[in-house]
Amino acid sequence: MHPLQKLLDNNKTWADKVKKENPSFFSHLAQQQSPKFLWIGCSDSRVPANQITGLEPGQVFVHRNVANLVVKNDLNCLSVMQYAVDVLKVEHIIVCGHYGCGGVLAALRHESLGLIDGWLKHLGDIRDNHEKSLAAISNEALKHDRLCEINVIEQALNVCKTDIVQNAWARGQTLSVHGWVYRLTDGLLHDMKGYTSSTAEMCKLEESVKKMRV
Ligand code: CO
Repeated sequence: MHPLQKLLDNNKTWADKVKKENPSFFSHLAQQQSPKFLWIGCSDSRVPANQITGLEPGQVFVHRNVANLVVKNDLNCLSVMQYAVDVLKVEHIIVCGHYGCGGVLAALRHESLGLIDGWLKHLGDIRDNHEKSLAAISNEALKHDRLCEINVIEQALNVCKTDIVQNAWARGQTLSVHGWVYRLTDGLLHDMKGYTSSTAEMCKLEESVKKMRV
């Protein structure tokens, strides 16, 4: 048997079920997509954007990488954002991290995992910038939780600071940036800092992040 036969069978069952419930579902979606949300999440297999938010195909545009980082010279992530904002006109960008993130833990422990160390260096910078507040937490699990939260807030700020989002706000486009953390142990999402929907609000967020860093 084909090693992936189970997945192909699952796909056929799913497509049949969707077609039965809504005969025009696929033909309608094939014409266009108009998602209102861009999801920037961790690659972790336990945090699937659509499933945990109850969204159907066509409703969320997704970019995932290890530890949900938004790095200013990452052409992959920036291209996804630019297309989502300028072409698809999404109204919300959600940066979603998760407690128990292996990438965050590696950064916290200064662990070396190979090639990925270069990517996680960005998290190492965040760890170092927040060294004082992290040092005040003695329990490693709680420290890990906190770095997951700090990372999401820092990445949401990175999203706001891109030319893509700045230009969208300058031309009056409706666009909000959100930072969420998902808890693997209960399946619930936690909103970190409300949301940012203008340059003025971004400045406030930046001020509070600066205070967190000292
Ligand atoms: Co992760």
